[in-house]
Amino acid sequence: MAVPRTVLWDRDPHTAAKHNLLRKYLEPWAPILLSRHATITYAEGFSGPGVYSQGEPGSPVIALEAFAKALQHRSGRIRMVLVEGDERRESELRNQLDKARGPHSDDISRRLHVNTHCGECHPTLLEQLRLQGCLGKPLFVLLDSYGGPDIPFSLLQELGKHRSTEVMVTFQPAFLTRFAKANQNHRRAGDAAFGGTEWHAVFDQPSNEKFTFLRDQYRESLRRAGFTHTLFFEMVDEGNHVLYLIFGTRHERGLEKMKEAMWSVDRDHGVRYRDPKDTEQQQLALELEPHTGPLRRILLEHIAAAPKGLTVAELKTFTLLETVYKPSQVTKLITDMRDAKAVTTTPRRVTAETVVVPYVAPPQPSNQADHLTLF
Ligand SMILES: C[S@@+](CC[C@H](N)C(=O)[O-])C[C@H]1O[C@@H](n2cnc3c(N)ncnc32)[C@H](O)[C@@H]1O
Repeated sequence: MAVPRTVLWDRDPHTAAKHNLLRKYLEPWAPILLSRHATITYAEGFSGPGVYSQGEPGSPVIALEAFAKALQHRSGRIRMVLVEGDERRESELRNQLDKARGPHSDDISRRLHVNTHCGECHPTLLEQLRLQGCLGKPLFVLLDSYGGPDIPFSLLQELGKHRSTEVMVTFQPAFLTRFAKANQNHRRAGDAAFGGTEWHAVFDQPSNEKFTFLRDQYRESLRRAGFTHTLFFEMVDEGNHVLYLIFGTRHERGLEKMKEAMWSVDRDHGVRYRDPKDTEQQQLALELEPHTGPLRRILLEHIAAAPKGLTVAELKTFTLLETVYKPSQVTKLITDMRDAKAVTTTPRRVTAETVVVPYVAPPQPSNQADHLTLF
């Protein structure tokens, strides 16, 4: 998508899917954290104008609605710290947020602190988070640029120092694979985003592996920044444009909740997920009943690589930490794989302790006895 110059622009299918996911994550995120913390913060570094050309809400308004709902049932406060670089858009954002706050009670308005700032994402966002005492407390940061690379690694590193920070970053690989080899400035922009030059090896990769290579490098950068668990959503629209949404957290619970959000989003035409671990790279339509074919292949490969087999509990942890699937999908899948003679389970019944090994067909019964009678 070309970078829009107007204050508002049309919402594309990527954005609709991203908004769906954000809503599904924030709706449970806010009440869960408010039940344990007096104040939680939501921040954006590339906030946008808060509305699209056909009137659809932007991400800050979606977040505000989710938070107003949470505050109806929970005590505590929510801060929203929103940075936008374009003055016209920041002004529109303020209008949209005022409009969205309008219908809510005085009590909710008092406990929902919203402030917008016009400035460069970096360092404005960090300055504001420090000033308002939000670092080191529960914080979700959405860094939704047009795909960049324009999110400095140093910002991720600062955010990643705090255990309770989670980030969601937008990353579009096409710009770097297309333009950075020949242009030193673009390469420098890439270095600032990745926090090093290892990603330059992308120029030597076969063309069908360049995007996945960059995705894995970016995942590594997030890990170095402190986000030990990362989850990728590869979104592919009708035009086959690829956009990665990358979620980073230090908490397994956060990972689990993000997966639940991912698998519960409504179907969005033309936008699919793809699991990085699936060797066949099957795209997954956003369906209510997720297609677990790729997980089956991923688990089979993982089981085959473990000489003594793996327990179902181990397979669930692997699924949570290393794939886009949910641990709750594992038991049924292993049962189906056992019935289809793809694996053997000991004992046969599938519980957390059950050990799973690849299926080996028993030797064929010998027909020697028949031979003996015949001759
Ligand atoms: C993809 S849009 C954000 C959309 C918004 N998150 C949503 O989902 O509704 C990116 C926004 O970042 C702003 N922007 C671009 N570069 C920026 C920078 N360096 N610092 C802050 N904002 C920037 C643009 O003006 C644009 O409004």
